[in-house]
Amino acid sequence: MSTALITGASSGIGKELANALAERGYELILVARRKERLAALAKELTSTHKTTVTVYAMDLSTPGSSAALEKKVLADGHSVDVLVNNAGFGTNGRVADENRARVAEEIQLNIGTLVDLTIAFLPGMVKRKSGAVVNIASTASYQPVPGLAVYAATKAFVRSFSEAVWGEVPTGVKVFAVSPGATATEFFDVAGTKPAGNLATPADVARVILQQLDSEKPAPSTIVGWQNRIMARVSRIVPVKAAIAVAGSLFLPKK
Ligand SMILES: NC(=O)c1ccc[n+]([C@@H]2O[C@H](COP(=O)([O-])OP(=O)(O)OC[C@H]3O[C@@H](n4cnc5c(N)ncnc54)[C@H](OP(=O)(O)O)[C@@H]3O)[C@@H](O)[C@H]2O)c1
Repeated sequence: MSTALITGASSGIGKELANALAERGYELILVARRKERLAALAKELTSTHKTTVTVYAMDLSTPGSSAALEKKVLADGHSVDVLVNNAGFGTNGRVADENRARVAEEIQLNIGTLVDLTIAFLPGMVKRKSGAVVNIASTASYQPVPGLAVYAATKAFVRSFSEAVWGEVPTGVKVFAVSPGATATEFFDVAGTKPAGNLATPADVARVILQQLDSEKPAPSTIVGWQNRIMARVSRIVPVKAAIAVAGSLFLPKK
């Protein structure tokens, strides 16, 4: 039986993926801050799919939290076959107006914890010559986004990091990024902004993640949805000033 650890499993994409992996027979380790939500999901998945679900209610936005999570996982005798670095959030606003403590948490969760969990669990996968690390990036990784400057930059890091590690791992081990566009989750409420364009569903994103997991050699990075794939191409072709202006028109708060 394979075990998948999903961060940010209490809502949105992480919750959807937990359902999908439980349906496939994975044992699950679910992590997020909201304990009651995790407990309710674990109960539902255990009874529906007869699988084993362990929950750890933890705040992963502080330095050292990833090491504490690794310690709990090992102490409870788990081995992680699939790591899904999904927990993340964005802050919306002009950088000059940002709350420094909140931004530090954003960078720690979106980047620091993701990198450290990868380094924690990848060696076991390399040794076993099997396993996967799935990192959730964003279409915001494809161009700078005024109004979401820190968030977009964290996701650019996630994509670049994932693509580079894709090129390091041996056959049998999969490391890749998946970039959703705007998706109907709690993300925009947390960020305090509104989505632009059509919304995908968490199920759309989970489907792409499963397709990549099923692939013998997944792409280093995959964008969810054909419109988003076109937009990412376009943002690479148009002058950067134009890409910045368009992104800013969507997310920069009016003065
Ligand atoms: N929705 C979109 O449009 C969109 C687009 C591109 C990329 N993404 C990315 O997709 C990923 C999942 O987000 P989502 O859209 O599913 O949004 P969501 O519904 O807000 O889910 C975010 C998850 O992360 C967890 N989380 C947040 N802060 C945390 C912390 N400090 N410690 C531990 N867990 C924390 C949340 O759980 P708790 O609050 O219980 O801790 C929740 O389970 C994120 O990385 C996001 O950047 C989303």
